[in-house]
Amino acid sequence: MWELQTPKVIVNGRGSIQNINSMMSRFEITRPLVVIDREVKLTEFGDVFSRLMNEYPCLLFSEFSTNPTTSQINCCLHNYDLSLCDGVISIGGGSAIDLAKAVNLVISHGGTIEDYLNGKTINGKLKPCIAVPTTCGAGAESSPYAVITDTAFLKKRGISSPYLVPDAVLLDADSLNSLSRLMIAATGIDSLTHVLESHISKKATPLTRISSRGLLLSFGLFLEQAIFKKNEAALENLHDIAFTARLLYPRTGLSVAHALSHPVGAHTNLHHGMAVALFLITSLRFNKSYCAEAFDEAEEVLGLKRRKLSLLDWIARIINESGITSYLVQHISKSKLPLEIIAEDSLRSSNIASNPRPVDKYDMLNIITESLEQLQR
Ligand SMILES: [Fe+2]
Repeated sequence: MWELQTPKVIVNGRGSIQNINSMMSRFEITRPLVVIDREVKLTEFGDVFSRLMNEYPCLLFSEFSTNPTTSQINCCLHNYDLSLCDGVISIGGGSAIDLAKAVNLVISHGGTIEDYLNGKTINGKLKPCIAVPTTCGAGAESSPYAVITDTAFLKKRGISSPYLVPDAVLLDADSLNSLSRLMIAATGIDSLTHVLESHISKKATPLTRISSRGLLLSFGLFLEQAIFKKNEAALENLHDIAFTARLLYPRTGLSVAHALSHPVGAHTNLHHGMAVALFLITSLRFNKSYCAEAFDEAEEVLGLKRRKLSLLDWIARIINESGITSYLVQHISKSKLPLEIIAEDSLRSSNIASNPRPVDKYDMLNIITESLEQLQR
């Protein structure tokens, strides 16, 4: 049995950022902490947001990386007087939204972020939180998780609680206007991976498969259009799919591509979508024979059989032609990775329990090595 936690209010559509002030009054936010991605701040969308926030005494925080860390959270907590803060607004990708969730947790219930990473229970509501996602893939705006790199141990760790789901989400595809092709591809591939891994998961149910089939159909229609043509309607669809996909996978878990992406992100600060793309093909190949029916169905629903393409070839084409492979070649190499530690850490991921195929350290080392070798071909 499972239950679905969703934001209380979802405002969807281009221009929905204009509703930020009414959402603030609805949730009685007058002095927010605003966690905003520093690149988003420089865009036209960021300007619109700043103008809308002009009248409010905001505390702005942008000093965080693509993989938010405990040090950055502590920096926000120590350098700002958050005692009068009555709500949190996050605007950016998964890093901004996850960091905002973590800070909100500490200012709402006390303790330190390390306490919660070590299992401190979250017993009640947080201060009201509004999320404005600005990528095609994180989905953190609809998830009950915050994923944080623990600086002391160089490990990505998750905090999970229904209270971490933001109260309101503004899904405004105008936020994507300045996103580069590379970032559309990296975040889009992350979102596709959420749905694929959910669809082949050992924990998938008839109900979750109804959702994942629909989402895969949408990826087949819109992913390439969004990445290669920057088609506005396709981008808007991808933005909405990311939100919907994250409602789904807390019920099913993910698989080895995500299990490996977190330790690699912690050790290299590689963008999460890039880390997932690095392992996606090899991990799907590893799992294929253990989830043959769901794998076959994914190819059908994505429309690949009609196009006489295999799932792995389709993904490889997108990863190569969007520039992800070139990015990975420049930013990652075997020598930068502590392979044994990454393999061991990945096996502690909760996603191992939902992976279709049993997996051990030897398998993980093979998947890492094959994924890195694939970059050289
Ligand atoms: Fe992801």
